Parts: sequence; structure tokens; C-alpha cells
Amino acid sequence: VAATVSLHPDFQVGEIDRRLFGSFVEHLGRAVYTGIYEPTHSTADDHGFRRDVADLTKELGVSMVRYPGGNFVSNYVWEDAVGPVEDRKPFIDLAWRTIEPNTVGTDEFLQWAEREGIEPMMAVNLGTRGVAAAAALVEYCNGEAGSRWADLRIANGRAEPYGVKLWCLGNEMDGPWQIGHKDAHEYGKLAAEAGKAMQLVDTSIKLVVCGSSSMGMPTFGEWERTVLSYTYDIVDHISMHAYYEERHGDRASFLGSATSMDRFIDRVVASADAVGAERRSDKKITISFDEWNVWYLDTKFPGEKNLPIQRDAPRIIEDIYSALDAVVVGDLLITLLNHADRVPVAALAQLVNVIAPIMTEPGGDAWRQTTFHPFANTARLAQGSVLDLRVASPTMTTKEHGEVPLVTAAATWDEAGEHGASGALSFFLVNRSAEPATVTVRTAGLDVSVEGGLELLADHVGERHGKVEAEKVGTVERDAPSVEGGTVTFTLAPESWSAWHGF
Ligand code: AHR
Repeated sequence: VAATVSLHPDFQVGEIDRRLFGSFVEHLGRAVYTGIYEPTHSTADDHGFRRDVADLTKELGVSMVRYPGGNFVSNYVWEDAVGPVEDRKPFIDLAWRTIEPNTVGTDEFLQWAEREGIEPMMAVNLGTRGVAAAAALVEYCNGEAGSRWADLRIANGRAEPYGVKLWCLGNEMDGPWQIGHKDAHEYGKLAAEAGKAMQLVDTSIKLVVCGSSSMGMPTFGEWERTVLSYTYDIVDHISMHAYYEERHGDRASFLGSATSMDRFIDRVVASADAVGAERRSDKKITISFDEWNVWYLDTKFPGEKNLPIQRDAPRIIEDIYSALDAVVVGDLLITLLNHADRVPVAALAQLVNVIAPIMTEPGGDAWRQTTFHPFANTARLAQGSVLDLRVASPTMTTKEHGEVPLVTAAATWDEAGEHGASGALSFFLVNRSAEPATVTVRTAGLDVSVEGGLELLADHVGERHGKVEAEKVGTVERDAPSVEGGTVTFTLAPESWSAWHGF
């Protein structure tokens, strides 16, 4: 396989918004309890949050965390999870049919995020609740002393407003599984009214309106058009969610997942721009890709309604990942980077235990899944701006996505970056082919130097990697590729993801 890439540092897609490296903590399974929070754990801080998990979150490079759901938020009464913990009452979370103890609520989460230097992204309940509860939550989080909900926060021990900037207007409201599911008109009107009220409480907040839950939704396209026709003027972003998995052993389609993500983004951008064009608006709606990952949804979705209601942080959708999954995650990040102009916000769903790069044992270790590595290294090495590459690659035919390129690439350029540190120039490359690939990068005659790289190879070693095997997966170091007269030649192993740093 031979591919060519051309670049020039003056040709850029856009600057990388650090919120692209967000993640997600939902009250689901063990994401919160025995995930980020476990007061009896040996590493727990004074607030009951696990230090080992927070340290891995830092190492992962997570900039932002979405909270408290997900499907969970659509039946959530946030007021029940603030104030003295002993007065809080458990309730049945209908999304995951679990007893939620309400021990961790808005204050505990926001203070954890603040201590860890993570930007919070909050979601409001537009399933079973509406305008008043949403506006009250903004006031609780961001209001100054002297009004009801801000004063309640102060009475609960937090004087300073949290200043939460990014707010989701509900979650996956197009999905029939959502508690309080609505059609596009019902949702669009409610989102517009809730958003209007929320912005009247705090004019500085930015709003995310729900897009489709996946490109496969029967209402996809029409949903985006309709909800934006109600909300175009008040929202900044429309959400996208997508999960990928290897179905029926179709490895080629799975390896091509990032091409599907790429087309999905282009289609949502086109839908949003069509609404803007009709309105003769100069405003551009951008995307909050606030749920994305590999998820073995077909085999593990816990939709069995006949199961008893669970309690005490049950193990739900704790997918264990292979190195192949990690290659696909790296490839999905390449697609997100290449849309830096229209995708400023994204969240790997989720952070801990639930389809997550970080796993824990209650009372035990925290460990890195295979998917940890492409995320952590992309977050670390992708600095500055994304270059607008021209990639010429042979293609393969897949059942699910038709023709997809065999080689994908992204490159970032940080003019202010230090030589040798994180590197001013980084390349992210995936070879989806079962053969090695040679990638020739033409750099418009620049005096480029690539110091070395990190490579992660997909494997065929059985099903998935538990803790012991996952720890062996990691990345391997690669020597510098050859550079001659402004042309860099990379050799990529079959089915591999790699990241390269230079200047
Ligand atoms: O991330 C898991 C679930 O996937 C979220 O709760 C929901 O929004 C999506 O369907």
C-alpha cells in the first residue's frame, strides 16, 4: 500500500479547541460510584474522590467532562442531589433501572472538576422536566448571591458561582428509549424556550441542542433541520453521537468506522448550514460531538426490561477493549482533528468503567484500557492548528461504508511549540490495510524533521483484553522516519495507529 500526503503550514483547517479532548461521566453503572468517587478507597481524597482515577484522567489529557448524563439526565431532579447528603433520598433512575443514591450531585461533581482543572459541561433534563428546572439549575451553578437558587448554593457551602459555560439542552431526545422522548417540533420548541430562559439567567452560557443519536436514526437530517429551525439563534452547537463496533466479524467495515464518522460530520454540517442559508444568517453552528467511542452495543445493551432494578453501582456496559478497538479510536480522533473548524467540542463516552479508557476495581486498582493510549497521545501531541492535508490513498471496499481509504492522516502544527518537547509538528496516521503501508509526506520543501513515533498495532489475540493483557498492549516506540529534501517517508505496520512528533 502506498499513500501520499501533501501539506503546507499556511494551509490549515483551524486551531484545535482543547475541548475536543473531553470525556463524559454519567450516573450509570460504576462511572460515578467506585469510578471517580469511592470514599472508602485507599487513594480517596478528603471529598471521597479516587486520586488514582483523577491521576489517570490527567494522564489521559481530558480537558472537559460532560455530566450527569446521558439517558440518566432525562429523569433527573437535580434539586434532590444538593444540600446535606444525609437528607438526600435515593430514586429509581429509569434509564438504567438502577437505584441512584444521590450521594454525588451537582456540587460534588463541579468541585471535583474544578480541583482537577477540568471544564464541566452540564446537561439539563428536558425529558421529564422543562424550562423552570433548567433555568433554576443555571442560577444554582452560576448565579450571584441574592436570588433563591444562588442563595441555596451558598447555603450549601459554595459561595463562588461555578461559572459553567457549556450546557446541553437535554440528551438524545430523538431516541424512543429516552424518558420523555419528543418529536422534533416538540423538542425544538422546548429547547428554544428552556435555552432562552437559561440565557436570561446567565447571558454568557453556550448551548448545545440535541442532534440525532446516530446517523442511523430514521429521523436523521429532518431532526437537525427542524430543531435548528427553532433554536438557530440561541444555540452555538448541535450535538452528534456515534458508537462503532465490529459486527459479525466484519473487520474491514469496523476499520473504516472513522470514514463513517467523517461523512456523518459532513452531513450534519450541511444540514446546519442549510438552515443558516435559508435564514440568510452569517452565524455558523458548530458541532459538539459529545458522545463517541467503540461500544459493543449489539451484544451488551442492557435494555432487558425484565431484569430487576439494580442497586449499589452495578457493572453495566463495562466493555473490555482490544488493540483493534484502540486503532479505531485513534482513527476516530484523526477524523475529529480534521474537522477542527466545525467540531470544537467532543467527549469520549465515557471516562471510567462504562465503555471507558479507565477501569477500576472497587477497593482495588485503576488501570488503562487499550483505548487509553491513542487518546492520551493525541491529546498530548495535537497542539496548535490542524493542517489541511491532501491525502491520496488507495481504498478498500467495505460492506457498511462502501469505499474507504486504506490510509488516514492528520497533522498538527504549533508555531509556538518547542523543538523536542511536545513537538511543533505532529502526524497521526492509521493504516487500515492488512499489508504494510508506505506514506510519503511532501512538505512543500520545508526543512522538516520527525524525531520518532509511537505505534499501536491491532491484534488478533482472541476476544478482548482484561487488565493483565491490556497493560501489555501499550504503544511501542518507533525510530525517526527517513527525511529527504522535504519529503518524509513513513512505513506503517498493518492495521496500526501511530503518532509522530517533530518540528
Ligand atoms: O454513553 C452511554 C449512553 O449512550 C448515554 O447515556 C446515551 O446518551 C447514549 O445512548
